[in-house]
Amino acid sequence: MKISIIGGTGYVGLTTAACLAFKGHTVYSVGRNIEKINKINNGIATVYEECLSDILRSAISKGLLFATEDHQKALMNSSIIFICVGTPSKEDGSIDLSQIKTASEQIGESLKKKKDYCVIVVKSTVVPGTTEEFVIPLIEEKSKKEAGVDFGVCMNPEFLREGSAVKDFLYPKEQGIVIGELDKRSGDSLFKIYEDFDAKILRTTLRGAEMIKYARNSYLAKDISFANEIANLCRKLGVDYNEVKIGMEMDSRIGRGRFLNAGIGFGGSCFPKDVKALIAKAKSVGVELGVLERTLLVNEIQPLLMINMLKEFFKPIKGHKIAVLGLAFKKGTDDMRESRSIPIIRALQKEEALIYAFDPQATARSKEIFGDEIYYALTAEEALANAEACLIVTDWPQFSNPKLYNHMKGRIIIDGRRILDPENLSSSFVYRAIGFPE
Ligand code: UDX
Repeated sequence: MKISIIGGTGYVGLTTAACLAFKGHTVYSVGRNIEKINKINNGIATVYEECLSDILRSAISKGLLFATEDHQKALMNSSIIFICVGTPSKEDGSIDLSQIKTASEQIGESLKKKKDYCVIVVKSTVVPGTTEEFVIPLIEEKSKKEAGVDFGVCMNPEFLREGSAVKDFLYPKEQGIVIGELDKRSGDSLFKIYEDFDAKILRTTLRGAEMIKYARNSYLAKDISFANEIANLCRKLGVDYNEVKIGMEMDSRIGRGRFLNAGIGFGGSCFPKDVKALIAKAKSVGVELGVLERTLLVNEIQPLLMINMLKEFFKPIKGHKIAVLGLAFKKGTDDMRESRSIPIIRALQKEEALIYAFDPQATARSKEIFGDEIYYALTAEEALANAEACLIVTDWPQFSNPKLYNHMKGRIIIDGRRILDPENLSSSFVYRAIGFPE
């Protein structure tokens, strides 16, 4: 099939484009940034994701993927058109639909001249009702054509995790595939793309698909904040939360692999944004989502617990050298969006600590946020050398090596991701962690 991806140079768009080309489709990656377009056409991925560069280069060499800013040409040649643009948070937590509006109007303009049937697929994360009440009217107005007659419409949420996006797209057995459809003809057209994937495919309504995306991410975020509240209580009651977690997961109704790892909370471009957006949408129809309100509140509290633990040893913290291991919102990525390291660094700056940070991937992006206000070590060892205390903020595997901490001058370790086993540390160290008995 010939497919266009509007927003095809971004994280979800480029991953979708490269993976569909990998499956043998001819794909146009439509973007507005000519530098990114040229990079992609030269086989250079514009986002860091494992395997993405390999499958991109292969697609380009086979002539199956072409990045362009000419949406008209791309859309005229395509039978499926994905919208993969961003929907960032506005001040009040609701989603900003400006990029969706631009994409919908571009599609409408192109459809005016297009004779053959095609299907518009919203893959961007949009709150329930957006596709029917915002996207379709815009396309119909610009194209003077009718949805369900002249063109089809689907909503197909993405369930990609940063660090495993290509794997999650090509092998979605764990997540499944959700197709929201305006009508059977629309759904049948999109189904053809996914029918050979090894995964359960759910076909539902447009707003059903929109809601499934938000409900899933909100559920996972809620699990994390639930775990963190229980962990905070465990710490006060002299219980190791990690033992409790093992005990909980023994119940098959809870099971393993849930998002129950306690720590400094969730970051990333999805959980915080999606939970805020669902709360805002609910409010707009007079519904209070108390569990999700609390989920966000706990997530704001968690990072600052590390500072409180630090204050047990330094009164004041001012002038003391503190090593911060990890800046990215999670291991395997350089993404700093909503990273829990941000409130931690800001709090340390307020206390006028001497901050020595290290992250294997996220230094460049961190400089965009903190500038030169903190020292960026080239290695973990360098950050730790002469440090009086260390805060472990991101769960990079290399930070779980107890020998690493022998480089420290001081002996205080505060583990925000429970990746160290205090049993493996020499008795000279003082270990503190969320969910670990005081
Ligand atoms: C998430 C969802 O997993 C994915 O399905 C969706 O499509 C996009 O959002 P992502 O944000 O890439 O993916 O990362 P994820 O691995 O889910 O972790 C999100 C955050 O939660 C990270 O900051 C991580 O450190 C934190 N987390 C995760 C916990 O604090 N505890 C856990 O048990 C799991």
